Amino acid sequence: MATTAYLAFEPDDAEAARSVAAELESHGWAVIRSGPEHRVQDKLGSLVQAVGGAAIVVVLASTAAQESAWIRREVAAALNNGRSIIVVRTADLPADSWINQTLDAASFIDLRRGARSEVLAQIVDRARTAAGRGRVIAMLNIKGGVGKTVLAANLFAAAHLADKRAISFIDLDPQHNLTQYFLSPGERNRIRDRNHTLYGILNARGDHALASNDFGAIAVPLNRARRGKGPNFELVAGDERLFEFTLDTRADRDKAEAFTRFRALVSALRARSDAVIIDSNPCATFLTRLAITTSDHIVAPVRPEKYSLTGLNMLEHVVREVRGRPLRPEEFSVLLNGVNDRTRSGETGDADTLTRAEINNAPFFGAALLPDEVPYSAVLRSTPTDRFAANPINVTAMMRVGGRPAKEALARAAAAILRRAAP
Ligand SMILES: Nc1ncnc2c1ncn2[C@@H]1O[C@H](COP(=O)(O)OP(=O)(O)OP(=O)(O)O)[C@@H](O)[C@H]1O
Ligand SMILES: [Mg+2]
Repeated sequence: MATTAYLAFEPDDAEAARSVAAELESHGWAVIRSGPEHRVQDKLGSLVQAVGGAAIVVVLASTAAQESAWIRREVAAALNNGRSIIVVRTADLPADSWINQTLDAASFIDLRRGARSEVLAQIVDRARTAAGRGRVIAMLNIKGGVGKTVLAANLFAAAHLADKRAISFIDLDPQHNLTQYFLSPGERNRIRDRNHTLYGILNARGDHALASNDFGAIAVPLNRARRGKGPNFELVAGDERLFEFTLDTRADRDKAEAFTRFRALVSALRARSDAVIIDSNPCATFLTRLAITTSDHIVAPVRPEKYSLTGLNMLEHVVREVRGRPLRPEEFSVLLNGVNDRTRSGETGDADTLTRAEINNAPFFGAALLPDEVPYSAVLRSTPTDRFAANPINVTAMMRVGGRPAKEALARAAAAILRRAAP
């Protein structure tokens, strides 16, 4: 199946659009061109659907584009749906242009001197890189304590160890449990003091801002047995100061800059990893929005218990609201976590069966429920101790003695998630 590119342009740029579309099509892309059939005032939903469903969005930037409400909508839809945006400049833009301010002006492709073949080749190259990169997977559930963190660490350690997948984690939770899971207190303090955490990335100004163009450089390696060889397994740490972004105290400008910087981090990580795993806080805040807008796929762990479906329904609602379009079950994986829990008294088996049946019969989530489940397991319950910190990956179930059923289940579930998350 051809990969789809959405080409956003104004009638003034029709000629440049023709050249760009022809070049992409000759390299096997399916191109959706913005035009009257997509730009219908009372059908904004289908426009968002077309933009959000494309692998990449190419924007032709000119004075006409700068003034177009449709281009603004198309760019917003691309941003809210985590699409990679390639900006091709066909004319000079004013310095205070919203296009320059919203998108990364340094990476604009210059078509101001006409559709020359080397520039067109550059567009195709960029499109190929953008579409072929690693998947971004967010661990999300509005309900807390369902296993987002412990499964993020253990599922993707399984993918790394069993299937040699390169994995980058981002700890987006102010409670930063994932960071605590892998790193010792001493190491966490060192990283925090240098602002080498997500907090330094989200702050664009002030004492705590990380001044770098290569945000990916602050990722901490978590598999130290490899000595720099083989696929990476790394973490961009979180710290408690992230809570500032969950309140309404931050100005809109701060949030807009945080969003742009977060996108830059995600791009840097996905360029070098098979999967970027975002661990999120259990509610809907600005931080949740960052996770939703940048992810290709959402993994929602659920526990076999009452009200599991309520958390999932809330989640679907929040994601739909943020992305501005109906969602497809293939964009989600629901993972039943903690089955066969013998430490519970009485009706454990029933709780598993009831929850499974309830989700299976639910309209949207029935199709998202994974056949693979994670059993209740002592290695997943216990918190790591500092003696493991010499090589952080050793804290995961895959490296610790015992827990074979958990290991096998984790490797299978991780493979199933990565298959579902593939483009
Ligand atoms: N399959 C399992 N078997 C045993 N214990 C588990 C399992 N999954 C999770 N736990 C335990 O349940 C607790 C909650 O898990 P975790 O912190 O990963 O949830 P969370 O969804 O990230 O929570 P929060 O919403 O607070 O971020 C932890 O103590 C964890 O060790
Ligand atoms: Mg957590």
